Amino acid sequence: MASKMVRPLRLVCAGYEGIKQQANPKTYFCHTFIGVRGLLNRSRSLPYPPGPRGYPIVGNLKLKDQLSHRGLAELAKPYGGLLHLQMGIIHIVAVSTAEMARQILQVQDVVFANRPANVAISYLTYNRADMAFANYGPLWRQMRKICVMKLFSRKRAESWASVREEIDSMVQTLIEQTGSPVNVGELVFALTRKITYRAAFGSFARDGQDEFVKILQEFSKLFGAFDITEFLPWMRWFGNRGFTKRLENARNSLDGFIDRIIDAHIEKKISRKPNDDDGLDDDMVDELMAFYSGEDESNDAQSSSLRLTRDNIKALVMDVMFGGTETVASAIEWAMTELMKNPHELRKVQQELADVIGLNRRFHESDLENLPYFRCAMKETLRLHPPIPLLLHEAAADSVVSGYSIPRDSRVMINVYAIGRDGSVWTEPNAFKPGRFMESKAPDFKGSDFEYLPFGSGRRSCPGMQLGLYAMELAVAHMLHSFDWELPGGVTSDDLDMTDMFGLTAPRATRLIAVPSYRLNCPML
Ligand code: HEM
Repeated sequence: MASKMVRPLRLVCAGYEGIKQQANPKTYFCHTFIGVRGLLNRSRSLPYPPGPRGYPIVGNLKLKDQLSHRGLAELAKPYGGLLHLQMGIIHIVAVSTAEMARQILQVQDVVFANRPANVAISYLTYNRADMAFANYGPLWRQMRKICVMKLFSRKRAESWASVREEIDSMVQTLIEQTGSPVNVGELVFALTRKITYRAAFGSFARDGQDEFVKILQEFSKLFGAFDITEFLPWMRWFGNRGFTKRLENARNSLDGFIDRIIDAHIEKKISRKPNDDDGLDDDMVDELMAFYSGEDESNDAQSSSLRLTRDNIKALVMDVMFGGTETVASAIEWAMTELMKNPHELRKVQQELADVIGLNRRFHESDLENLPYFRCAMKETLRLHPPIPLLLHEAAADSVVSGYSIPRDSRVMINVYAIGRDGSVWTEPNAFKPGRFMESKAPDFKGSDFEYLPFGSGRRSCPGMQLGLYAMELAVAHMLHSFDWELPGGVTSDDLDMTDMFGLTAPRATRLIAVPSYRLNCPML
């Protein structure tokens, strides 16, 4: 998800639709009128949440470089759980405590279930034809249903098989490199790219990965690019031809790439005989093609049986690529880094792997349920390094939170990073202590414990959580059970830099380099 976002093109109806659905139809108009008018009157007379004073017109724009999880955590310190910034015409509200996150994601979930999107995001997602940036409403709901039931579900064996097989192949690579320094960061980013690429396109476009990676990288840069006109729209008068051209080029490259794949899928579908429709080698594009409406782009997406356009399919594939690649890779790299930084914790985790599985066979996924300490180490990693540290939501209506007015269209950033390190909730908040999750009342990441939200909570929470966790746990378990790890010559655990980089996700700023040595007593075949 992007760090810098803009005023959406169309959002109000979607937001009110959500509110509408909760009302009894008979009393709907009456309640809506009284309720919304009451809320508007009340919210207008209430102050915005506290925040630093800004200048006329530009407001707090000079703080634009602090719109990262770390910057906002620092800025919010004197103000508490809700911080208000006026960035040109845009209201930004940063949420830094568990209770305020609960107010936004649970108590008023429907009001805050929209996403903000800037010009780049709108353009690159085919005018928000995807799930991650669609506003809350019927189209989003239908696409989410397809993703949860068809693409990410446990029942879709192919997605899970691609995780297992690509991890096996990564283990083989490590065996070949035992004794020499391995760029663990590069290795795991390549791993997750291969997993999502293969799950999305199957045997199609086997050779196109490098081309596709370049497209993803350019999208990522454009998503995060700072665009002053989103805060000061009158600056559009000055135009920005260069940026517009880059957007057009990026989308054209994606079109060229995915259109070929979609056409190949259409041909495959046409040439398939009725009886060989066993679906065994179906990839995600195949699954989505089942809802394809042909070239008729004017499909009625709000009808109960959803038809997807080509644009929907392309944008959904990009959601999977962005949602499933950097998040999982950054989680794996951080898990390995924290364990190398804390050798006593590494020993404990590896001891558990040796005690439970032994060293005479390879790790198998069914072992996971017998590895409580290992799993707590994964949870602790996600507390300290949530791959998406800022949840980006947008207010679909004027609202009141904790006595403060939050105007419609405000961007609400839930600082999961700051909440996970809140010293009033967590003891030794910056220390890596997996044991804290062994306690019986330890929070879980399913979204009802607001002090710990690595996958978000509520309607917009992560639909790929199970798949993402599976890939993370499987990769790290294999790496720690089959191999011992040392830092390369001269580097000590104290030297490891724990700085992160803020972009779509928050991976480690420098790649982890470590030396594996084979640990098992059985041959690795
Ligand atoms: C460790 C792995 C992962 C983490 C920590 C993670 C975390 C998150 C978070 C925090 C959100 C936003 C929640 C919110 O705004 O309230 C999100 C949304 C999303 N995630 Fe994940 N994710 C992971 C893996 C995946 C995977 C593997 C996929 C897909 C293959 C995926 C697809 C998505 C999508 C499509 C959304 C947008 C949902 C919506 O807006 O309705 N994620 N994820």
